[in-house]
This record gives sequence, structure tokens and C-alpha cells, in this order.
Amino acid sequence: MKKYTYSKSASLLERSQKVLAGGVSSEFRKKSYPHAIFYEQGKGSRIWDVDGNEYIDFSLSQGPLILGHSNTNVLNHINEYSRNGQLFAGQHIKEIELAEKLQNLIPSAELIRFCLDGSSAIQTALRVARAKTGRQKFLRFEGHYHGWLDNMCWGISAPAPEALGPRENPSRHPWSEGLPLESRNEFLLLPWNDLSLVRHTVAQNYEKLAAIITEPVMCNNGCILPGDGFLQGLREICDEYGIALIFDEVITGFRVSLSGAQQYFDVIPDLSIFAKAMGSGYPISALVGRRKWMEVIEEGRVIHAGTMNTSNPTVAAALSTIEVLERQLPYERMYQLGNQLMHGLKEAAADANQNLLVQGLGPMFHTGFTDLEEVKDYRDTLKYDRNKLGKFVGAMHDNGIRIIGRGLWYISASHKEADILRAIEVAKKVLLEM
Ligand SMILES: Cc1ncc(COP(=O)(O)O)c(C=O)c1O
Repeated sequence: MKKYTYSKSASLLERSQKVLAGGVSSEFRKKSYPHAIFYEQGKGSRIWDVDGNEYIDFSLSQGPLILGHSNTNVLNHINEYSRNGQLFAGQHIKEIELAEKLQNLIPSAELIRFCLDGSSAIQTALRVARAKTGRQKFLRFEGHYHGWLDNMCWGISAPAPEALGPRENPSRHPWSEGLPLESRNEFLLLPWNDLSLVRHTVAQNYEKLAAIITEPVMCNNGCILPGDGFLQGLREICDEYGIALIFDEVITGFRVSLSGAQQYFDVIPDLSIFAKAMGSGYPISALVGRRKWMEVIEEGRVIHAGTMNTSNPTVAAALSTIEVLERQLPYERMYQLGNQLMHGLKEAAADANQNLLVQGLGPMFHTGFTDLEEVKDYRDTLKYDRNKLGKFVGAMHDNGIRIIGRGLWYISASHKEADILRAIEVAKKVLLEM
């Protein structure tokens, strides 16, 4: 088999570093193995870099490519619709069609606004919750990633478990310099999956609380599922105190089901955010919610704007992605392939006597090295052996399997059983050699 080398990427990175700060356009890309890689082409479940290395892609560009790379239906639709124009700074019919689709599919989607990305849609949701309740703060959970903007740039980067502070009042570590210090006071922070702690904290602070925001599955750190009754418990607490329940479905939307995690877990939030898989890699996201909450936008009391919102190509991308998903209904297959892969990885780890913990849902799951039998919250994730994971991810990469550096795997509708079997075969070899 061809030995993977990265010399062309390395020299492009050098050139790139002279013009792009750090050589990249998003901080996460800097941390790729063995350094930021330059890609030339993606098709289906495969991606090729400039050194001619071919990968089975389980990173799917951090999640968006639910149909795999370069889906022909989506590309044709975008080309066709972009010939009419790119951006009208006005309304167009496909925008209504897309909104109607979301309204039909997503249980809580009574009214919708489109944005460009997850981060800005999440901030819009918070603004709605503050306006409606007249309260200022929100409650969020350690390790949940809700974008990179100021008030979300805390509580996701503790250096070590000891630095986390008490569970009832966790330390807030900044992920970046340059944050306004006041932004650390916009929210209360708690460990996830601890309903009695949430209940206690809300009972003491509800007069200040506009919203509770959570990923329905803690995808970004350990792919942790909600404990039994946790999401339902949040729903009840929010109802009791008149607080908005916000689901960040940026990852789970169109991935765990066509109607999101809210349908999968049968817990309906007041507001939710859909992004990544909705647009097959084009910049479009949606804030959807109950009319009772979204009316503050409808009435113009809350401002949501954006020059680039709902450009023709992005709407066409989302509309055709969802149409393909509706037609193909790939979910059963994605779960089956994902479960087969998770099972194969567990077996490979057991055979190699490696403490690889595999957990998640199927369409997305996480691999990390730990002696824990289950990772239940962010505090547990800090016990993962990150060096060992780095070696695993690197060795998989050198053998043509691309996964996200923090151990996350995504399955797309374009993955085939052969891709799964190949990934298991490579993992067997890598784990034995480690
Ligand atoms: C759960 C979650 N929420 C929000 C975001 C932010 O979305 P975006 O990168 O589109 O701003 C991300 C991005 O990875 C995410 O995973």
C-alpha cells in the first residue's frame, strides 16, 4: 500500500502562513494531523489531498456532509438556481418552500428565521429568550460547544479535571484571549446530565434566567447521550419557571433523524438551531421555534438581520439536501452502518487489549482511550488519554481513514459497507501496533 506523505500540503501551509493568520481560516483546522492539510477533491465518502492521498472521510467537514461530498442532486440544484441570481436582498419563493419544509418536519418549528451559521443563530435564540422573558442570563453546560462568540467561549477548555472547580459552581476557563470579561457573567454553568443540580440551581436563580441551552446529545465532547429523563426534566423545569428551552441541533439536526433530536427523544424545545447537515456544506442555518417565542422577531421587537442571509445557492443547497434525505430516507442505513462500525471498533480494541471507549448513536459517535466504562459528562472527558488518541487518529490517517482529531466520527448517506469494513480492518492493525 502507498505510504502517505504530506510534503505538498506542508509547503502549501508554509505559503499560506504568509497570508492567512496561522495559515488557516478556522482555528480547528490548525490542529489537523500532521498539520493543516490541503484538499483537492471530495466525492461521496472519499476525499483526496494535494499529495494524492485518498481517505474514507468520517469527518465529513465537521459534520455538514450528510449526503457525502459533491452530491450531484445538490450541485445541480445550486447551479440551476444560481443562474437566476445570487442574492436579491429581498424574498424569493424557494425560501418559503424551505421554511415550509422545516415547518412540516420539525415539531417545534412554528416560525423560522434563516442565518448563515450555527454561532449567529444561537445568539439570535438567546436574544429572543431575553426579550420574551425580560431576564438576562442563560444556563449552559460544561463542554457543550455553542459556537465561538464571546459568551460561548467559556467552559469548554479546562486544562485538567482539577481545574474544574466544584460541580455546583464550575470554574469558567476562557477559550480565547480578548473576551469581554462581562461575557463570563452572562450565563450560569453546570455539569451536564445532573438534573437535580439543574433543578436546585434554577430554583435559586430563575428570576434571572431567560433560557437553558443544551445540545440534545453532547456531540462535541465524547458524544454523550442524555441520561434517562434528563431532557424531559429540563423541559419540565423550563415550563415551571417560564424559561426558554433551547436545543442546539447544529449537529443533531438532520443527522439523528429527519426531524432532529427533538423528535428522536420526543422532547420539544421552545427554540432550536439547525445548521451543519441542513445545507451540505453551504452557509445556511435556521432558528426555529414556537410562535409564542418567535413572535418577538415577528413584531420587530427583536432584530435579526444579515446581508447574506438566504442567498440563492444556500437555499437551493438546503432545499435539495432535505429533498434527497426525504426521498432516500437513509437514516436506518446510517444507524446500521454506524452501529456496525462502533461494534467493529470495540472488537478490534478488545482483541488488541486497548482501552478504547466507543460511544454514541450510530450516525455520529466518539472514540477515546480511557479505563472508564462510560463517559457521562465533560468532567469525565478530561480523563481521556489525549496523547494516545492523537496517535490513533494519526495512524488511521496515515492509512486512509480520516476522522475528527478529537475522536468524533460521522456517517453519511454515501458511506458503503465496504467503507465500514475497511475502517475496521485499519483500526485492527493500528490498535495492535499501538
Ligand atoms: C453543537 C454546535 N453548536 C454550534 C456550533 C457553531 O456552529 P458554526 O460553526 O456553524 O458557527 C457548532 C460547530 O461546530 C456545534 O457543533
